[in-house]
Amino acid sequence: MCGIIAHAGDREALDPLVTGLEKLEYRGYDSAGIAVKNGHGLDVWKCSGQVSDLKRTINTVDSSATLGIGHTRWSTHGPPTDENAHPHTDHSDRVAAVHNGIIENYETLKEKLSEDGYEFTSDTDTEVIPNLIRYYLDHGNEPLAAFEHAVSDLDGSYAIATVIEGNDSIFAARQGSPLVLGLEENSYYLASDVPAFLSQTDTVLYLEDGDVLEVRSDGVEIIDEEGQLAQREVEQVDWQPGETEKAQFDHYMLKEIHSQPESLQKTLEGRFDREKDEIDLDLGLDLSGIDSVQLVACGTSYHAAMFGASLLNQCGVPARSIRASEYDVSAGTPSERTLFIAVTQSGETADTLTALSSAKEAGASTLAVTNVVQSTAAREADEPLYIRAGPEIGVAATKTFSSQAVTLTLLSQFLAEVTDDGSPLDTLPELVSDLSELSNAVEQVLQTSDAERLSREYLNERAYFFIGRGLGCSVAKEGALKFKEVTYEHAEGFASGELKHGPLALVTERTPVFTICVDGSRKTVTNAEEAKTRGAPIVAVSPPDHGIVDTADEHLYVPEMHPICTYLLANVQLQLLSYYSATELDRAIDKPRNLAKSVTVE
Ligand code: AGP
Ligand code: GLU
Repeated sequence: MCGIIAHAGDREALDPLVTGLEKLEYRGYDSAGIAVKNGHGLDVWKCSGQVSDLKRTINTVDSSATLGIGHTRWSTHGPPTDENAHPHTDHSDRVAAVHNGIIENYETLKEKLSEDGYEFTSDTDTEVIPNLIRYYLDHGNEPLAAFEHAVSDLDGSYAIATVIEGNDSIFAARQGSPLVLGLEENSYYLASDVPAFLSQTDTVLYLEDGDVLEVRSDGVEIIDEEGQLAQREVEQVDWQPGETEKAQFDHYMLKEIHSQPESLQKTLEGRFDREKDEIDLDLGLDLSGIDSVQLVACGTSYHAAMFGASLLNQCGVPARSIRASEYDVSAGTPSERTLFIAVTQSGETADTLTALSSAKEAGASTLAVTNVVQSTAAREADEPLYIRAGPEIGVAATKTFSSQAVTLTLLSQFLAEVTDDGSPLDTLPELVSDLSELSNAVEQVLQTSDAERLSREYLNERAYFFIGRGLGCSVAKEGALKFKEVTYEHAEGFASGELKHGPLALVTERTPVFTICVDGSRKTVTNAEEAKTRGAPIVAVSPPDHGIVDTADEHLYVPEMHPICTYLLANVQLQLLSYYSATELDRAIDKPRNLAKSVTVE
């Protein structure tokens, strides 16, 4: 995915464009660029690298332009070079465009345009867009009509923003990639995501797929997919600008780990009644006829989905977690009594959206457990269930995992209550009581964690293994994913019992095994002992009086609570471990190499 920002209004555009790009950089960071309309034509600055590289050039520019577009790229077509960076222009540099998504028929379009003498200089699919607009302008169309014709020629997914020489509008379109309009007095911002302009305005309007938009300094016109003028609801977002700042922290990842006490509180707010041990998720969807659940997700969200599926099964509700990219080959067709839950922080992940649409087609009820209000998943599913974690900027998901896991915990108990075969955990009263203490317990872990020291203890090892059982397995897998994402070290998470079925061959004195032990079962302790016998250092991630403690060489302690809460605390310890190990290794923590915050291509 990538980030788009555009500005039209009566203030100078460069400043909000650069700020917007900085805020959107988590969406893609292999190149960046800006185009503005000046008195005589278009000015374009772009380069491979980060927004800070682009800024060095922009800082030397004196421009009073008020209309412009910007882009941070996560390349799909063509390597991250200066030529492939957006904005792309037509061959006469009179139309500039930025694009998020993929134009599937770009080769055919490029061939036709080339035959007509239009020249191309990049490897991207995007470059056909400004050239198509130019083509329609050359054939006598007014700018809006030229833009509409060009858009109707495109197959694929896109959010597009363009500026045209001599014209005072931004033309934009949305099909399958997000685009939101921010409204301020005398200024409009168009962006892939709200943080891009949140410091200016929290008044927004979400665009629908098929919308074409003309934005001028004095107004906006939206044309829907039927070609009719459309009105979209104006809304206020409840994210605060401070939530998108690093504040006193060195990295967003650390800030987001430390904001979990607050984000978890928001996730839980008003959703359970301690007096009656009742869960209230305010869902409109009737879920009483559900006989099975599919939880579908990618990456970290998949680990939260595993967590949720495990809980549902414990409560007698048949559930499966399925990797979204495998949905079509391994899920089997859902029935009308299946509840399909898309677990997706961004609500934009292409693999998850594809699975969601095929489940809908098969007649399943659908729910999107997501963080981003009005995201594609939130809109496509029968109903969104928001995790309310607030904006997450670090590419490595942290606070959103905890909020997903807690939301799915509540949902599991709710479903167990309303469905025929399910029954909530016997320990529901303790769970509800401990959930209300969870924020304090997370704070305690953050204050007392030994993860920073431990990260130095185990630096530059051959591999890092994380093991756990049941809910602990999803935490182990998440611990390993986090570790590899930000440290670039080899890390693997296993169901602890699986270690002896193969991975044990890799175990040496240079493979620390982080062992997540929460409940009373001895099995994981035995598995850790098997690794210890082969020389592996064992780090217990457990309450201080758990049986693993004697086997372990080192410890990351967590307060003992209801097991569900204790597992989430273990995860916080592992988040800190990954963060501090990556700091020691001097990694690009908030923007790990080759990754982007969400992946909008399959
Ligand atoms: C998490 O640290 C990763 N950046 C990644 O695995 C992510 O969880 C995955 O791409 C799914 O994203 P989503 O939750 O936005 O759908
Ligand atoms: N397909 C475009 C490119 O490769 C846009 C990529 C994106 O949305 O991340 O440049």
